[in-house]
Amino acid sequence: MGIKVGLLGVGPVGDHIVKVLRERRFPIDGELTVMATSERDEILDGRTYHVQKIAPHLFKGIDLMFFAGKEGAKGASMQWGQTAIDSGCIVIDNGGDFRMHPNYPLVIPEVNMNSVTRDTRYICNPNCSTIQMVVALAPLHRLARLRRVIVSTYQSVSGHSGSGIDELQKQSKQILNGEIPEYDPSIFSRPIAFDCIPHIDRFLDTGYTKEEMKLVDETRKIFSAPNLLITSTCVRVPVIVGHCESINAEFDQPMDAERAIDILSDETLSPGIVLIDGRRDDSESHSIRNDEYELHYPTTTDLFKDGLRDAVLVGRVRNDLTAKNAVNLWCVSDNLRKGAATNAVQIAEEMLKLGYLY
Ligand SMILES: NC(=O)c1ccc[n+]([C@@H]2O[C@H](COP(=O)([O-])OP(=O)(O)OC[C@H]3O[C@@H](n4cnc5c(N)ncnc54)[C@H](OP(=O)(O)O)[C@@H]3O)[C@@H](O)[C@H]2O)c1
Repeated sequence: MGIKVGLLGVGPVGDHIVKVLRERRFPIDGELTVMATSERDEILDGRTYHVQKIAPHLFKGIDLMFFAGKEGAKGASMQWGQTAIDSGCIVIDNGGDFRMHPNYPLVIPEVNMNSVTRDTRYICNPNCSTIQMVVALAPLHRLARLRRVIVSTYQSVSGHSGSGIDELQKQSKQILNGEIPEYDPSIFSRPIAFDCIPHIDRFLDTGYTKEEMKLVDETRKIFSAPNLLITSTCVRVPVIVGHCESINAEFDQPMDAERAIDILSDETLSPGIVLIDGRRDDSESHSIRNDEYELHYPTTTDLFKDGLRDAVLVGRVRNDLTAKNAVNLWCVSDNLRKGAATNAVQIAEEMLKLGYLY
């Protein structure tokens, strides 16, 4: 027996939802219903789908809707979220509009699946940078209680949308051809090719950006820790897919690098995490890299390897030499997969197991 599934939005996140549903053999009854702002055919995960122009009647008979539309007043969730619920759908929403809604759980299956109940109709997927940080910190938080987090992100252009990828590719060619890069300030505020921009989403009156405050507010909500001290700086970098984060985490209870490594390398304690850390003793080709302190660590390139595509990769775990019970770590994940599509599909899988989708 399968369930009727719909998808709203066919940007990079929508495309990856189709891919992940197929890879994980999610039991869909019949064809996936695909909607966007206009009717046309679209290739999603290599197959042609007929996209229907969004309209209220399309939600009828659908059990589970994945929302992957734009945010804001004219975006998909604000315009169609309530209609989908009223039509009897359960919604899993990738957008940010309702993440802080007190009645809508904000869910990472490895961390707080217990916030979903049989009565839940609308579930929010956290922001991509929140998901990977919270997956990495949750096992340590469970055992030693987080006190303070300082995080800097290095976020790829696909985190903006399909147009973010186009900007980087176009500008890279222009610069390599000796031309001055053209840029659309509604996408990134400066040219992104060969540069880093410490500005994601709008600035607020505090001087922080909305993206930075998403990390703060969403983390507190997921951990049910409204007083958690957390501060962030979010940076756009010229990488196509995969976000990286440098995290400094301080705990109430004893924690050091050795304990953190023990916890993070334990699959049961640390679901969804792959630790890539420790001394490199492989005498491989790059002899210049074979000094005695050389370490393993993850980069976005590792996300293309089998078994790592949906994981949160953690490395560079080391003591903060200036504070007690504090460690630094580096984490890497695919913003379109674990940061969006995979997390959404995992929520659906868990709901299926719990009997909440029938
Ligand atoms: N990219 C990431 O890494 C990432 C990670 C986590 C969460 N998210 C969130 O996931 C969502 C999708 O991201 P994306 O990068 O795939 O976005 P995108 O490239 O901008 O694509 C948005 C899609 O939604 C459709 N859409 C927009 N407004 C709509 C409306 N009012 N009614 C119906 N359809 C509408 C668009 O339709 P048309 O094609 O017809 O224009 C388009 O297909 C966003 O809310 C984003 O913030 C993204």
